[in-house]
Amino acid sequence: MDKLVIEGGEPLSGAVRISGAKNACLPILAASLLTDKRCMISNVPDLKDVSTMVDILTSLGRDVARDGDTLEISGGSVKSVTASYELVSTMRASIAVLGPLVARYGEARVSFPGGCVIGPRPIDLHLKGLRALGAEIRIEEGYIIAAAGRLKGSRIYLGGHFGSSVLATANILMAAVLAEGETIIEDAACEPEIADLADFLRAMGADIEGRGTPTIRVRGVRELKGASHAVVPDRIEAGTYMIGAVLTDGRLFLENARAEHNLALIDKLRECGGAVEERAGGLDVYRRADRIRATDITTLTYPGFPTDLQAQMMSLLTLCEGISVVTEKIYPERFIHVSELNRMGSDIILEGSTAIIKGGGRLSGAPVMASDLRASAALVLAGLVADGRTEISRVYHLDRGYEHIEDKLSAVGAKVCRVRE
Ligand code: EPZ
Repeated sequence: MDKLVIEGGEPLSGAVRISGAKNACLPILAASLLTDKRCMISNVPDLKDVSTMVDILTSLGRDVARDGDTLEISGGSVKSVTASYELVSTMRASIAVLGPLVARYGEARVSFPGGCVIGPRPIDLHLKGLRALGAEIRIEEGYIIAAAGRLKGSRIYLGGHFGSSVLATANILMAAVLAEGETIIEDAACEPEIADLADFLRAMGADIEGRGTPTIRVRGVRELKGASHAVVPDRIEAGTYMIGAVLTDGRLFLENARAEHNLALIDKLRECGGAVEERAGGLDVYRRADRIRATDITTLTYPGFPTDLQAQMMSLLTLCEGISVVTEKIYPERFIHVSELNRMGSDIILEGSTAIIKGGGRLSGAPVMASDLRASAALVLAGLVADGRTEISRVYHLDRGYEHIEDKLSAVGAKVCRVRE
């Protein structure tokens, strides 16, 4: 397993090109199953999760060819409607093929995704939504088996215990575009990744109103055509580098980053003493104040502060003078990075789903272990600013969601290298 070795203390300075969003790309690739015509998807990041989704499409009978950052998905009918345990168990987002398969082929057999290191991740809202559209669903031998004639439009409230659900909205939206009649999804996820999926579906000929709002209205069509689409820039990758610029007291220009997708983070970075300025084609991010200050954060659904930036922000807060309180409202157990950050010298205690950070100290390099994608990114950021050497093992988590991270960081001055073991 590869390790990342970081010698801390170098400010990040220069330009970083932000890649296409993993979490937009995955459902968009699944949506290609809704047509038997060819689709071209560009600005596709080179990530492990993307190749897992490509493997799923291939296992269903599609040919997928990559040319640079563009994927061409062949037309034709699928040869199988089964997404196997072997593939689904490596990536929960595989559940996004459920809606398209049942809508287009009237049947789907998708392995039931298991738990996950960031806490329980139920799929009740996905199943509730598909049932509301008329699918019959049963669980057998660890698989979700869905069957339907043509799905029928319905009014569906998709809010759950923790608010709206990104992938449940994606699944129901993808199913509804081929359903007979009108579907209204209430408490739909408003994340930019869902808006991007809706744009791809519209390019395919779907009739969708209200993308990016809590009420999405879909008028079903009989069939969809092939389409070309460029994936939206990754706001979580952008946010990670934004935090990195402030944390290391450097200055980064983030090409393609969009301020409107990261308003909650920008607000918090400014409160801490960072500066974020919009420039043509991207964002300029640096530290404005001599001393960085503590702030409080609560993760929420979009446009609130994203759970996917909570761990990275915590690395910054360990350096900010004062006490910061971080409350996790999406995944109350998503704090696996805390013990590793404390090994590097931070002072963080956990009280249920809240972390209390006594900031202002220094971090010291240490061997640490990555446990999930965003926790790994938090450890990389901590390593960049720590005294001495940090070795991060289990780097495969980072490869799931950060395109060429060590190349991008090295190009802006970080001392980071990958050691293959
Ligand atoms: C998406 O996961 C992202 N993944 C996650 O990104 C992200 O953390 C999450 O949204 C929240 O923003 C992709 O887009 C591929 P949810 P998703 O359903 O859709 C509960 C990353 O690091 N819930 O919006 O699976 C759930 O337990 C990852 O890139 C139900 O109760 O998340 C959570 O508390 C990790 N029932 C809340 O809703 C359901 O049926 C939001 O989860 C579904 C979800």
